[in-house]
Amino acid sequence: MIPILGNETSADRLYIELQYMLADVVPDFELKLKADLAARINRLKVEKNAVILGHNYMEPTLFHSIPDYVGDSLDLARRAATTNKDIIVFCGVRFMAETAKILNPSKTVLLPSEKAGCSLAASITAADVRQLKRTFPGVPVVTYVNTYADVKAESDICCTSSNAAAVVESLNTATVIFLPDEYLARNVARETGRHIIFPTKGPRNGSETELDYQMIGWPGRCEVHEKFTLGDIADIRKQFPDVIILAHPECSPEVVAASDYSGSTNAMIRYVEQTKAPRYLLLTECSMGENIAAANPEKEMLRLCSVRCPHMNQITLEDTLESLEKNQHVIEIPENIRSRAAQAVERMIAIG
Ligand code: 13P
Ligand code: SF4
Repeated sequence: MIPILGNETSADRLYIELQYMLADVVPDFELKLKADLAARINRLKVEKNAVILGHNYMEPTLFHSIPDYVGDSLDLARRAATTNKDIIVFCGVRFMAETAKILNPSKTVLLPSEKAGCSLAASITAADVRQLKRTFPGVPVVTYVNTYADVKAESDICCTSSNAAAVVESLNTATVIFLPDEYLARNVARETGRHIIFPTKGPRNGSETELDYQMIGWPGRCEVHEKFTLGDIADIRKQFPDVIILAHPECSPEVVAASDYSGSTNAMIRYVEQTKAPRYLLLTECSMGENIAAANPEKEMLRLCSVRCPHMNQITLEDTLESLEKNQHVIEIPENIRSRAAQAVERMIAIG
């Protein structure tokens, strides 16, 4: 379990705790500055009756100091669904904050940076989904949570990386539309034994015929996970033959197949915690490796930090403080979109 200090309001105490956990990861002068900021945020959070949700990709000083809960997309959606606080501050990206608002229309949901987007969420519009539904009438639409509210509103059910296969199988239909991540869709198709087509791309090789398909995908990509290659895996294994490689399912099927494990960000954390090997490489946002290293000092985390999520990295302690001080940036979703999106998100949460 990764320890978090979201209730600590004394800067001196936070500094000592952060030093204990992050001395090998973050320079000391920075820890002092960050502890001061974090203590101010934690005090304001109590004053304003706010809860802070932090995604596993948050940078180590933020991750270990201010969230009341940390986790993957599904975990944080569940936390958002059950909070009794007046304000939810989402230290993650816009689609995650939108999911919190979809589930909590009467609460104020704040996103510390307006620049925290996502290449997957930007890859598809509500009009695209409506067009697909016209092309494949009656076929249920499964939408990855990495989408905006208007896209969720056109969907039958959402999924995250931790429940995608279970959601697809729960529908019990001959065919599903699965949007918008091409690689997640291909990984789910492989896991559930389904033949997938990408009609908006056109066939790319002989195996992608229009015959006998059970999944219909969309060519969205995560700009981070698509960068990991079989060459990276071969190089790392050559240099460190005992390394255990973990890949997020937004990586290509070839990369997932060449890895030792694939799962959501929570599942990867659990895997490292429960596995005895000395050395690991995560094919995902680099901050998560730092957070796991801090909590598991006896394990070595190799890092490919040239590949970063520019959106997650927009969220800083400085912006989070300003967000709470000024009540910015407030997430708003028109009610006719929110209520339809809520059905798709709640249906997913009911499945688990
Ligand atoms: P998780 O749901 O696994 O936390 O993934 C979210 C994400 O954006 C991965 O890039
Ligand atoms: Fe989106 Fe990829 Fe960043 Fe996750 S890592 S938020 S999927 S761009």
